[in-house]
Amino acid sequence: MRLAPQPSAQPLRLVVVLLLTTAAGASPMLTPGCPDKCVCDEQLVVQCAGQQLSTFPSNVPLATRQLIISNNRIGELPALWLNYLSDLVYLDCSNNSLTEISESTFGNLRKLAYLDLSFNTLTRIADRTFGPLATLVMLRMTDNPGLSEVHPEAFMENAALQVLDMSRNNLTVLNITTLIALPVLRSLGLSGNPWTCEFYIYIYIYKHIQYEKYIYSHLHTYCIYVYEGQRLGELGMELRTLCHQTLDSLDYLFFVLIGFVIFAAGTVSAWVMGTVMVFYERYIKKKSQQPDTDEEDETSDQNNTSRAQSDLGLIPRGTAYFVPPGGSIL
Ligand SMILES: *[C@@H]1O[C@H](CO)[C@@H](O)[C@H](O)[C@H]1NC(C)=O
Ligand SMILES: *[C@@H]1O[C@H](CO)[C@@H](O)[C@H](O)[C@H]1NC(C)=O
Ligand SMILES: *[C@@H]1O[C@H](CO)[C@@H](O)[C@H](O)[C@H]1NC(C)=O
Repeated sequence: MRLAPQPSAQPLRLVVVLLLTTAAGASPMLTPGCPDKCVCDEQLVVQCAGQQLSTFPSNVPLATRQLIISNNRIGELPALWLNYLSDLVYLDCSNNSLTEISESTFGNLRKLAYLDLSFNTLTRIADRTFGPLATLVMLRMTDNPGLSEVHPEAFMENAALQVLDMSRNNLTVLNITTLIALPVLRSLGLSGNPWTCEFYIYIYIYKHIQYEKYIYSHLHTYCIYVYEGQRLGELGMELRTLCHQTLDSLDYLFFVLIGFVIFAAGTVSAWVMGTVMVFYERYIKKKSQQPDTDEEDETSDQNNTSRAQSDLGLIPRGTAYFVPPGGSIL
């Protein structure tokens, strides 16, 4: 009968492995095993994507810098295990079944720069959740269909945050007071949320002072309105006018350009028409000066004359007459 490894046997095993690997001349932190169903490489990357894991992989090497556990069914990030991985820089937990993240989950991940929590079932983000992640640069938290509450101070301490994507969640309101204050935030994705009013919040904010002020101030206004508990029916028109008033300089440039294009098109077509007319007139004149045309004209004149005369009963119909050039029928 084989004995399953006991939890208490773990440290001993680790020591043995360490001794063995040190003897073999390899880096001791690299090789204390690799979790089941995962692939570990020498760049300290542990790849466990799409393995139908329902729990966080155990025995992740302590020196791991990149951990990818996306496309599984993991329901919980155990704070205790995760916080051993204090060298973690990159953590991809997208497409799992995470419903909650406790305040201690990321407590020790002080080097984490990239965190992906997209495609989970999170419902709320508390204020301290991301607090310890002082070096976090990019946070993706999209496509959590039940995520309707993000604490106003959730990102207050993420001073390195540059990209925050919260698209396609269930957010109806968002207090962005602390987001505005983030020093290097340059992109904020908020599209595809059921915002409580018709204000079209599709925003990628770039650190472009004018633009930023304009977007922020209106987002802010909007949030405050909603927070103050006003009913949407009362707000609808007001916000709509607000939206329509707020054209930025690019919009104006666009209108000016369109105006110019229409003006130019009008001028050009008028010029073309004029030219065509002039040429047409010249052509007609030229044509009327040619002898052929003269004869034709005369013949038709003569026809007219003869018709007129036959109408008067002077000349029997159907009779041909020879008319000498310059002559006339008497
Ligand atoms: C999520 O993971 C499942 C299982 O691996 C996969 O079939 C599905 O396409 C993934 N969805 C997304 C949006 O990546
Ligand atoms: C989104 O939030 C609303 C309440 O704001 C709730 O009624 C609805 O069920 C939520 N949607 C999902 C998918 O959880
Ligand atoms: C938004 O959050 C800030 C910071 O927590 C708070 O001081 C402010 O009162 C909040 N605004 C609203 C409208 O709730």
